Amino acid sequence: MERFEIKGENKLFGKIEIDSAKNAILPIIAASLLSTEDVKLCKIPSIVDVSKMLQIIINMGGKVYRYDDKVVINNSTISSFELPTSLSKELRSSIFMLGPLLAKYKRARVPFPGGCDIGSRPIDLHLAGLRDLGVKIEEEHGYINCDGRNMKCGLIHLDFPSVGATENLMMASIFLNGETVIHNAAKEPEIIDLANFINKMGGCIYGAGTSTIKIAGVSRLNSICYTPISDRIITGTYLIAAAMTGGKIELTNTNYEYVYSLIKKLVNSGCIIDYKNGKITIESNFRLSACSFETQPYPGFPTDLQAQMLTLQTISDGTSLIVENLFENRFNHVPELLKMGAKIVTRDRMAIVKGVNRLYGAEVSAHDLRGGAALILAGLAARGNTIVNNINYIDRGYDHIEDNLRLLGADISRKS
Ligand code: UD1
Repeated sequence: MERFEIKGENKLFGKIEIDSAKNAILPIIAASLLSTEDVKLCKIPSIVDVSKMLQIIINMGGKVYRYDDKVVINNSTISSFELPTSLSKELRSSIFMLGPLLAKYKRARVPFPGGCDIGSRPIDLHLAGLRDLGVKIEEEHGYINCDGRNMKCGLIHLDFPSVGATENLMMASIFLNGETVIHNAAKEPEIIDLANFINKMGGCIYGAGTSTIKIAGVSRLNSICYTPISDRIITGTYLIAAAMTGGKIELTNTNYEYVYSLIKKLVNSGCIIDYKNGKITIESNFRLSACSFETQPYPGFPTDLQAQMLTLQTISDGTSLIVENLFENRFNHVPELLKMGAKIVTRDRMAIVKGVNRLYGAEVSAHDLRGGAALILAGLAARGNTIVNNINYIDRGYDHIEDNLRLLGADISRKS
């Protein structure tokens, strides 16, 4: 098992380019199933979740060519409506394939994705929406069998604006005659990107990015060459890294609007942030003031930046209250931060953090993707040496994060 070794207290300076968003790429790979022509994706990072999603396509009989940061997918040779069991269980996002399989074959058999490290993550909203479209669903022995032969367009109301359910239902309804409407849809930028991707192939989706999305059925989708949007969570992770270590960094290929809820908090805490045309610059020269926040669906503060922002609070002046509203088990990084000298108390979905003068290096372990990234940030700011174990979690969403951090002046290396 690989680990990161970090020698802390280096200030960060310089410029890095932000990768395309994992959470945009995964549903886009699933949506490639909707076309039998070539789908070419550009600027695709080398991260484990993307490789696993592509492996599912290959296991189902699709063709995938990868060169440099490009991926070409051709699904004309797929004839199965069943997802490979073990790979699908390893990757929760495999559930994104359910909608496209139903759209294409009117049938789907997928393994139940089950829970994961940050919470139970049910898929009841996905299934309720599909039932609204006339899909018959039977759950047996850990599999979901869907019969969509009587599928028709309709009106769906989501009880909660789930990102995955919104994406799945958009894809499921793409070939239905007439108009499907999703009320209380999620508004995340990755949903707009998925709609843009499908529309560029010839689909007709309106309203993505608002709470009402309309899908007018089309008969086929064509080939495409597409670059997914940049990763707002990676942008946020580097902004918080610079805020914690001090220094001045510039991020390119990014969009300040995607991370505005974070920018506002960082500015209120004392950072100097400048943004324009795909660039964000952050400067942090002094101790920051603590700030409280709670996670919300977009455009609220993202749950995927909670761990990193909580970590910043551990060395900020004052006390902060953090409420995690999205996932019930998303404070796995807290016991690890305590080993580094942080003062944090958690109760259910709340954490109270009292800022300390400094963290101290320690041996800690990642338990999930974003919590793992947060431990790296703690190590960068801490006095002394930190070892972060279980970095396979971090590799799921960050393409060799250590290379970028070293470019910015951090002392971090990967060891096996
Ligand atoms: C997506 C993101 C993930 C992010 C999350 C919230 C991808 C690949 N992943 O996950 O990084 O943390 O959005 O922004 O895009 N829920 C139900 N029933 C359902 C579906 C969801 O109760 O059928 C609940 C979940 O348990 C959770 C909340 O709704 O409490 C939000 O989940 P959802 O928006 O669906 O997140 P994901 O699509 O799984």
